[in-house]
Amino acid sequence: MGKYFGPYGGQFVGEVLKGALAELEEAMQNILPSAAFQDSFRRLQETYIGRPTPLCRADNLSEDLGGAQVYFKLEGQAQTGAHKINNALGQVLLAKCMGKTRVIAETGAGQHGVATAAAAARLGLSCDIFMGTVDIRRQQPNVFLMKQYGAAVHPVEDGSRTLKDAVNAALKNWVEESSTTHYVLGSALGPYPYPDLVKHFQQVIGRETRQQVLHDAGRLPDMLVACCGGGSNAIGFFSPFLDDPVALIAVEAGGYGNRPGEHAVRMEGGGMPGIIEGYHSLFLQTEDGQTSATHSISAGLDYPGIGPELAYLGSTGRITFTRAGDREVLDAYGILARREGLICALESAHAVAAALKIAPTLGREALMVVNLSGRGDKDLFITAGELYRDAWREFLQQEAGRLADETH
Ligand SMILES: Cc1ncc(COP(=O)(O)O)c(C=O)c1O
Repeated sequence: MGKYFGPYGGQFVGEVLKGALAELEEAMQNILPSAAFQDSFRRLQETYIGRPTPLCRADNLSEDLGGAQVYFKLEGQAQTGAHKINNALGQVLLAKCMGKTRVIAETGAGQHGVATAAAAARLGLSCDIFMGTVDIRRQQPNVFLMKQYGAAVHPVEDGSRTLKDAVNAALKNWVEESSTTHYVLGSALGPYPYPDLVKHFQQVIGRETRQQVLHDAGRLPDMLVACCGGGSNAIGFFSPFLDDPVALIAVEAGGYGNRPGEHAVRMEGGGMPGIIEGYHSLFLQTEDGQTSATHSISAGLDYPGIGPELAYLGSTGRITFTRAGDREVLDAYGILARREGLICALESAHAVAAALKIAPTLGREALMVVNLSGRGDKDLFITAGELYRDAWREFLQQEAGRLADETH
């Protein structure tokens, strides 16, 4: 059942969810292309998300690297600070047009939860977010933001208490409540039709990039570089260029080592085929077919599976996969801030790290565009803890002391 990309994709769910997914597929066919939906969505993209996001020429870095001319697509300028809002807002609007009154979502790092909560607030739907308790502890600032937008955040205590357990809890809730509720899935994966739906809403990144590069340079780029967790920013950025002679580079989380639990590299032989969370793809797995632990300094790339279309395009060679480790990611984050005045998300810094290595190997006439999928404010507690440790510790201790004094 469902659409396949080579061997990957499909729809592996129970009967109740099949009904909800069929209703979603019908809405994609009938509501998405309608003039009413397109007009409302375009207005929201322009006046709420802030699209088009800028394409910025990196003159200093291009000069330093002495190779390709580098551009950055600034998705971090979008409302809520990352590309996640492109999909969240599209799906929440679709849910509203379907007559749903409530949306639910899973979240790991919290970016997709924040985007969904903001979109639901904007469009007047109630919102419940499922989040593992380990992630709640790691990502308190985003939990706070979701609550400010009026969402209820439900702690998930099952399994490893991280993203995959949040997905399972959200799916379970959807089975019980699908007549009133739409499940806003956050990456280009899951059972059909989600990979296509999420790609549909994220393609705006690649479409805008194409126009902006043509306008600035008078021709298409030679290479695109994006980070890759589940894969929504990568497939959205790449797909309008799939039929062009443009090299496509996806960067996975190399973490701090090659052993299980130290990285999240699903391609290059790390991931094994499997059917997990309703779709067939490549997953980092234990010997008994459970998803294995992963690690990345960036919570958004710390996921054991990969979207089925990316897995397929990787297997055919159309997309080249590479990796960046935690240390080089932090270095790339610092170089970008100092040389271009851009503080990017740690996820996006994986793409920057790869670009810093590849650009010098290309000729001066080559054009490379790197997708900066998010901005770095959300990572302040991680980056300051790594790069500014003593002053940050002192600040946190002072703040904790101040709060303790106020409660007495
Ligand atoms: C800024 C940013 N970039 C990238 C990702 C990875 O997701 P995807 O691979 O679906 O684009 C995330 C996930 O939370 C994110 O917050």
